[in-house]
Amino acid sequence: MKSLSELLLVGTDSLRGVADRARFEAEILLSSASGMSRTEIITKGEAEIDEKKFYEMIERRRKYEPIEYITGKVSFYSREFLCSKGVLIPRTETELLIDHVLRLIKSIKNPRIIEIGSGSGVIAVMLAILRPDARILSTDINEKAIVLARRNAERFCVSDQIEFVCTPFIDGVDTECDIIVSNPPYIADDYPLNRTLLFEPREALIGGEKGTEILREIITIAQDRKIPFLACECGYDQEESLTEELKGCRYAEFYRDYANLTRGFTAQTI
Ligand SMILES: C[S@@+](CC[C@H](N)C(=O)[O-])C[C@H]1O[C@@H](n2cnc3c(N)ncnc32)[C@H](O)[C@@H]1O
Repeated sequence: MKSLSELLLVGTDSLRGVADRARFEAEILLSSASGMSRTEIITKGEAEIDEKKFYEMIERRRKYEPIEYITGKVSFYSREFLCSKGVLIPRTETELLIDHVLRLIKSIKNPRIIEIGSGSGVIAVMLAILRPDARILSTDINEKAIVLARRNAERFCVSDQIEFVCTPFIDGVDTECDIIVSNPPYIADDYPLNRTLLFEPREALIGGEKGTEILREIITIAQDRKIPFLACECGYDQEESLTEELKGCRYAEFYRDYANLTRGFTAQTI
């Protein structure tokens, strides 16, 4: 048996060259393996724990598996969500999409929201938390995503506000709505995915040959169904081609992320 501080040193050394923040990740994995907080790991450094689980986690990380899949947890919009293999890991940039939706629906009472591409449910759950008067219908083609999203909705006690449906786009959905929100797959087919991205489901990342195919379909759906507002995340190099697609809208505006790159757009369709 090794002490927590010994394990922290071994773990940090093992992750050098694999993780950018080796010590930080070793702390997270040790915390997950021991069930102690990161503060306890430091303050109770002499305590001994069964190291097997920790070493297994370190080995998975050394093979470039994302730390979120190993711990089963991910931080999003300052909350801790559940996360699991087979479902996309939510990204910090997507918090911006939520802020844009909140702005668009600010003056709408009891807003009805449709999300395309639930994933882990972070968008639907956060909108439900931040707008308790909202009703949300969220779709995904991945059954595993729907199961996880429902668990996250339960975790934050917002299941009553959200219906998760396993269907492509909004096929079979005829409810009225004020806004469609989506962070769809938007990477081009031939884009080389790095070792870590290869752990994530391909259908959550790849948006078609050009990458914009699913986004184009969503824009068409919003216009055909006369859904007033649309807010989507997109790729940093897709502004030009999507501007063409959004020409029929009353207005469309692209927004930028923390790195000042195009990251999405909002539009008023009618
Ligand atoms: C980039 S992930 C976003 C997940 C989550 N909303 C987030 O922001 O973390 C895209 C999601 O869209 C789903 N998806 C892909 N094609 C779809 C389609 N045609 N209809 C509905 N969902 C789709 C994928 O399974 C995946 O869960």
